[in-house]
Amino acid sequence: MKRRTFLAGSGLLVGAPAVIIRQSSARSVSHGTRFPFSVASGDPTADAVVLWTRLARDTVDTSPVASTPVNVEWMVATDRRMTKVVRRGVAVAEPMYGHSVHVDVAGLAPDREYWYAFRCGNELSPIGRTRTLPSERADISRFRFNVVSCQNWEQGYFDAYDGMAADDPSFVMHVGDYIYDVSRGGGVRDHERRALPMTLDDYRRRHALYKTDAALRRAHETFAFIFTLDNHDALEDNTTDVTQLKRRAAAYQAWYEFQPVRYAPLPASPAMQIQRGYDIGNLMRLTIPDTRQFRDSETPCASVSDSKFAFGVYEQACKANDAPERSMLGAGQELWLKDRLQNTPAQWNMIASTVKMTPFDMRHNDALYRYLQSWDGYPAERNRILDQITAARVPNPVSLSGDIHSYIISSVVRNVGDDPRTAPMTELVGTSISALWPEPLDKPMAQGLPLNPHVNYYESQQRGYMRCTVTRDALLTDLRTIDFTDKPGGTVRTSKRFVVENGKTGAQEI
Ligand SMILES: [Fe+2]
Repeated sequence: MKRRTFLAGSGLLVGAPAVIIRQSSARSVSHGTRFPFSVASGDPTADAVVLWTRLARDTVDTSPVASTPVNVEWMVATDRRMTKVVRRGVAVAEPMYGHSVHVDVAGLAPDREYWYAFRCGNELSPIGRTRTLPSERADISRFRFNVVSCQNWEQGYFDAYDGMAADDPSFVMHVGDYIYDVSRGGGVRDHERRALPMTLDDYRRRHALYKTDAALRRAHETFAFIFTLDNHDALEDNTTDVTQLKRRAAAYQAWYEFQPVRYAPLPASPAMQIQRGYDIGNLMRLTIPDTRQFRDSETPCASVSDSKFAFGVYEQACKANDAPERSMLGAGQELWLKDRLQNTPAQWNMIASTVKMTPFDMRHNDALYRYLQSWDGYPAERNRILDQITAARVPNPVSLSGDIHSYIISSVVRNVGDDPRTAPMTELVGTSISALWPEPLDKPMAQGLPLNPHVNYYESQQRGYMRCTVTRDALLTDLRTIDFTDKPGGTVRTSKRFVVENGKTGAQEI
């Protein structure tokens, strides 16, 4: 086979020393195949990271670029000009997965930056940057990561991501709602269609649209992402309805095809491995349960709720909700989570939970209302987890979540009214990248604050993300807030700072 320079003709790398790689046959590729979705990396470990791209003619044409598998060359270097190549190979983009490319590059060094690129025929991808995690059990003294959630295309631009250029996080933890399936119209920009996505092609088009946001693209080119999924990414519920299962299968497959993640769902399968666990040295254990695929019905109390109150999102609490067998995680996953808590080697123990764990009571028409799609809908299981934390004396447990488009800094008490100083766990809820929190949802929360003294900060009208810096002494959380999202170009600043001191529960503003 003829040999030629991998990067010949790349305008990005003029003057870079030639790097030699075997050229693969690209005869089956349609004319114009390239990398309109750029590149991304994710699921980092101490010695590996998943590199991603997707072959396409452009961002709106989702038809296959070929009827057959296509070879895509990849390379990883230790410098941004990609002159010091340390890994290279050829990946196969399968038509069955929309010619997406996922390369799980192993044998990398811990806690260091890498740069990577792809080539298909004569087409070169942009160069991406990524980072591996520190070695498991290594004695590290400082670690930084960001927490994001809820990027609603219609409701705003994703420019909050550009604030991360000043952060240098080791990774970005996305706790759900990467896309929105629902379309409301009347926002700052439109979805590609109003109807709910149902098929694989529908979901592919929705993901393709989201990947064109310029700030999101820059973030993917620069940082490794770790994900979990929430209700707008794919359907919730432990459902047996065939239409719903087909839709969930389509959502899972499109999600996989567009994300730099390690575990592929089987085509047309309504099941996918979402749970993840990471050890960052002996400093921090991050556990990411799947809070959607196995959860019991979200509406056991629907019959007593007022659908005109808070769009029906907050529901009247009822006896069925307190049933001990109700589960958000499913029995197997609950055991897995408890085991990770009990046997942790780490000083800080984070659970990334999509929805908030903190209980929150609201009053409406002299009745008690709660947000039952969060952990308030699964109190028995939450109490079992808190009991485990207490019994095993888990060091510094912290829940990181999103979902409600608000910053909430709180202590996870067992029951509203408990002394926050006795709470087993701290929670940091990050606000949304762009999704709004409308008044009917905000007002009952704001009015409920006096009833919930374990919540020390609630702010629903700001968009942004959280920057978490973990050290031996403390967890410092900066609320990184953008000044506007209704057009591109917003500026991110730190609006508040909270510290959780080693050995103490609860966050204090500093
Ligand atoms: Fe959301």
